[in-house]
Amino acid sequence: MTTKYRLLVKDASQVVVVCDRGENDGLVKAVGPADSIAAQYPEEMFEKVIDATGMCVVPGLVDAHTHPVWAGDRVHEFAMKLAGATYMDVHRAGGGIHFTVEHTRAAPFADLLATLRARLGRMLRAGSTLVECKSGYGLELDTEVKMLEVIEAARRSLPLGISSTYCGAHAVPRGKTVAEATDDILRVQLPVLKERLSSGELRVDNIDVFCERGVFDLDATRAILQAGKDMGLHINFHGDELHPMNSAQLGAELGALAISHLEEVTDEGIAAMATAKTAAVLLPQPRARDMLDAGVIVALGSDFNPNAYCCSMPLVMHLACVNMKLSMPEALAAATINAAYALGRSDTHGSLEAGKQGDLLLLNCRRWEHLIYQLGGHHELIRYVVVKGQVVHD
Ligand code: NIG
Ligand code: FE
Repeated sequence: MTTKYRLLVKDASQVVVVCDRGENDGLVKAVGPADSIAAQYPEEMFEKVIDATGMCVVPGLVDAHTHPVWAGDRVHEFAMKLAGATYMDVHRAGGGIHFTVEHTRAAPFADLLATLRARLGRMLRAGSTLVECKSGYGLELDTEVKMLEVIEAARRSLPLGISSTYCGAHAVPRGKTVAEATDDILRVQLPVLKERLSSGELRVDNIDVFCERGVFDLDATRAILQAGKDMGLHINFHGDELHPMNSAQLGAELGALAISHLEEVTDEGIAAMATAKTAAVLLPQPRARDMLDAGVIVALGSDFNPNAYCCSMPLVMHLACVNMKLSMPEALAAATINAAYALGRSDTHGSLEAGKQGDLLLLNCRRWEHLIYQLGGHHELIRYVVVKGQVVHD
């Protein structure tokens, strides 16, 4: 008999059935108590059966913010920062993003792809099944396009899901003014991107700007985000990170899907985001409690980048609970369904429901909270990583 379905996960109380073949390939077919479901799905109908007795099932994790394409690490800056230098001190001294831009411009496509694949592999092993990936270490047409092509090549060759973001406004290139950089994005970079998107060679989901004092001001940010939105991209940008910029209000006004960081967001900004249903992507920072209490959709991201080398969403959830006072269910929701919302993917990702993509983790523990409680060493805890009903790690 040929198998009809891809994967059955079962224990005494829960059954998850993932459909195989046809249009519903890799989607969850049914989730629920064994006694009401198991009889309809005999084991012979499945390619693979996992006995999950003693394990927990959670949705695949969604990492809503990463900068994973770059060459040249910045381990030397970590020491500078520990000695007291601020992020902007390092940036102004020609380090920070500028250091990474120099190395990324010089790096061959194949090297960038190899390191991206390795980094995404680590994220997947730590439970992330959908990851947002930004460009932004080119700051000129050729390298920005090279980075987006690297992300596209990874998307086509790796099992995990990728949401890609054009972040050409990640910094003002050396020797240029904000006006010149904005002009280059609006008149040179975005038109080429538009062409590449319409030809189907490239897929880009979101547009991002680093809206910050000394980087892109509010007017420049508005112009770039609006141009991206006009091309059909979701607005998902860095705002109110180091100074209160009214980025949250701007995002709400433009209908942004999400804003990241928000360490310096004001009360008015929080209220505007709650009303506009703009998600807050937090990279563990302090005002989470105020946001949750005001009804903001709170998501989490690792912010993996050369300044914050973190591939692990379980670690991010742990930090969010300890530093930002999220409860464990709030942290799990922020790292699954709310992160999917921030990427415009909550219809298909972020929870285990019939009709959604079969992305899930099987944990070697009796309480799912171990995923957050255990600090590091998640490889043994995460027994299986499943994407589209297929085991990609065991
Ligand atoms: O999200 N704030 C700007 N962008 C990154 C940092 C990128 C870098 O320093 O290379 C962030 O933290
Ligand atoms: Fe970032």
